[in-house]
Amino acid sequence: MTSTAISGARMLSVGTALPDKVVTNHDLEQMVDTSHQWIVERSGIHERRIGGSTSGLAAEAAQMAIERSGVDPASIDLLILATTSPDRQVPATASTVQELLGLRCGAMDLNAACSGFVYGLIAAHGFIQMGHSRILVIGAETLSRLTDWTDRSTCILFADGAGAAIIEKTDGPGDLHGWHVDSNGALEEALFCDFDDKIQMAGQAIFKNAVLAMENAARKSLEMANLSPDAIDLVVPHQANVRIVEASCKRLGIPYEKASMVIHKTGNTSSASIPLALEDAWTQGRVNKGDNLLLVGFGAGMTSAAAVITWDGI
Ligand code: ACO
Repeated sequence: MTSTAISGARMLSVGTALPDKVVTNHDLEQMVDTSHQWIVERSGIHERRIGGSTSGLAAEAAQMAIERSGVDPASIDLLILATTSPDRQVPATASTVQELLGLRCGAMDLNAACSGFVYGLIAAHGFIQMGHSRILVIGAETLSRLTDWTDRSTCILFADGAGAAIIEKTDGPGDLHGWHVDSNGALEEALFCDFDDKIQMAGQAIFKNAVLAMENAARKSLEMANLSPDAIDLVVPHQANVRIVEASCKRLGIPYEKASMVIHKTGNTSSASIPLALEDAWTQGRVNKGDNLLLVGFGAGMTSAAAVITWDGI
């Protein structure tokens, strides 16, 4: 694969964490005027996990990624925590996670909503080009804290979880061949959450723009990687709605069967959803050395991000 993109780093391992508590669509039927059938038809969600703290879930996912990688935690230079639901306004939840893991390194939060993990992954490759050796990138959320459980238009979607990855310097060209980040602040009112309030969402506006944003970010990153869509072995999309992923795949000309989907069991976990879907595919043996992966997401802001990587991890 030829590439003009930044390089010199690879994703080594992934780890995840989900709260124990399962909330099914049937549970939600007892809380708001909805039905299992409506939720499945409109979103693809069957159940979701609720509970824990953003820092606790992040640390659990990170611990799994660290153990799988075999790296010495003392060699980690930086912790990037993508989250839109930090434990506190100050300090950054990344610092709390760092303490839970016993790391001594740089630590920062990154908020690009559901695109956050891919933003963090791309930023990590940049930090490694500037001299860092190992970076822990986490996406973690407790969206249940920001959800109005009496609002049927949002409470059926959002949930909690975390996913993490170790990014390591490599002698070769690295795994990142194309990337793209974007934001359209004009769409801010389509999805927002004010301080001490709950998420407000214009679902249809998000839906329409999400499909276009996913396609655009994916095409730009494929172009940078000099790859056609049919060279992609696995799509790892943000898990917001099965129909959004189906429509995006169709527009890109990539069979939906190539997408890793976990939304049926996780709901929308924002910045955690892409690493959760990646780890699920890895666990199932769907991610092998040399495979071309397209990680692509969109979120409030309205942000979008995509990365084309060749899997060179464990
Ligand atoms: N159960 C039953 N009926 C419902 C529910 C529900 N939970 N919610 C809404 N309805 C009703 C509406 O009131 C409406 O009724 P009406 O026709 O009598 O007015 C009808 O169902 C259709 O509602 P729509 O909003 O048109 O339904 P739609 O097909 O658009 O699906 C959904 C709604 C699932 C929210 C969809 O629009 C969507 O997924 N949008 C994207 C949301 C998203 O991805 N958000 C996350 C962004 S990422 C981030 O940053 C966190």
